[in-house]
Amino acid sequence: RKGKTPEEVVRKYLQKVRNPPEEDCTICMEPLASPSGYKSAQGQPPVKPDLVGKLTKCGHIYHLHCLVAMYNNGNKDGSLQCPTCKTIYGVKTGTQPPGKMEYHIIPHSLPGHPDCRTIRIIYNIPPGIQGPEHPNPGKPFTARGFPRHCYLPDSEKGRKVLKLLLVAWDRRLIFTIGTSSTTGESDTVIWNEVHHKTEFGSNLTGHGFPDPNYLDNVLAELTAQGITEESLRD
Ligand code: APR
Ligand code: ZN
Repeated sequence: RKGKTPEEVVRKYLQKVRNPPEEDCTICMEPLASPSGYKSAQGQPPVKPDLVGKLTKCGHIYHLHCLVAMYNNGNKDGSLQCPTCKTIYGVKTGTQPPGKMEYHIIPHSLPGHPDCRTIRIIYNIPPGIQGPEHPNPGKPFTARGFPRHCYLPDSEKGRKVLKLLLVAWDRRLIFTIGTSSTTGESDTVIWNEVHHKTEFGSNLTGHGFPDPNYLDNVLAELTAQGITEESLRD
C-alpha cells in the first residue's frame, strides 16, 4: 500500500460507470452526469472531474474526484468508507496516540453477570505532541483520567469482545485526539466510537452495569469500525 497515490487507492475499490444514472453525487451534490463540483486541493494532482465509479461491495456511485477528495481529508491509511452506508474497503485505522493496553481477570462478578468473573482492561496513554494525523500537528495534547479502567464479563461473549478490542487497539481505534464532550477541553485524548464500561459495581454515570444490551451494542460498534470475528483470522 505504501507508495500508492490517493487516486490509486480509491480506484482499487471502484468499478467504472460509463453511463451514470440520473442521480446526484451525494458528496458534491452535483449530478453524476456532470463534472464533480469539488475543487482540487492545492498541490493535489488533478483527477478527471467527470469520471464516475461504483464502489465494488455496496454499489454506491460517486465521482472519482469526490471520493479522492474525501480520502485526502482523512488519515490516508489505504482504506475507504462509503459515506452513504459506511461499508469499509481495506482495513480502517484511527489516530489513537501511543500507549498501553493491558487486561487481567478479577475474581468478582459484575451486576447482571452473576455467574462469571470479570475482565478488567487498563488503558494508559501519556500526554504528548500531536502528529500529522491529529487536529493540531506539532501542538501538545493532554491525557486526562488515565489509567482508565474498563470492565467486561469473563463469559464467552465477553472474551470475544476483548479479542476484538485488542484488534481495535492495534488499529488505533479506541481513542482519538479531539474535544472532550464531557469537559469541553480541546487537544485531549478522548474515547472514539466504541463504548466502554468504566464503572464496576454501580451505574451512576451510565457507563456501568447492569446493561443487558452492552455486549451486543459494542459488537455492533466494532463492526462499524470494520472489526468482526473475521478480523481475528488475519
Ligand atoms: N466512561 C465511559 N465512556 C464515557 C465516559 C465514561 N465515564 N464519559 C463519556 N464516555 C463516552 C461518551 O458516551 C462518548 O460516547 O465516551 C465518548 C466520548 O465522550 P467524551 O466525553 O468526549 O470522552 P472523554 O473525554 O474521553 O471521556 C470523559 O471518560 O473514562 C472517563 O476519565 C474519563 O472522565 C473521563 C470521561
Ligand atoms: Zn461528486
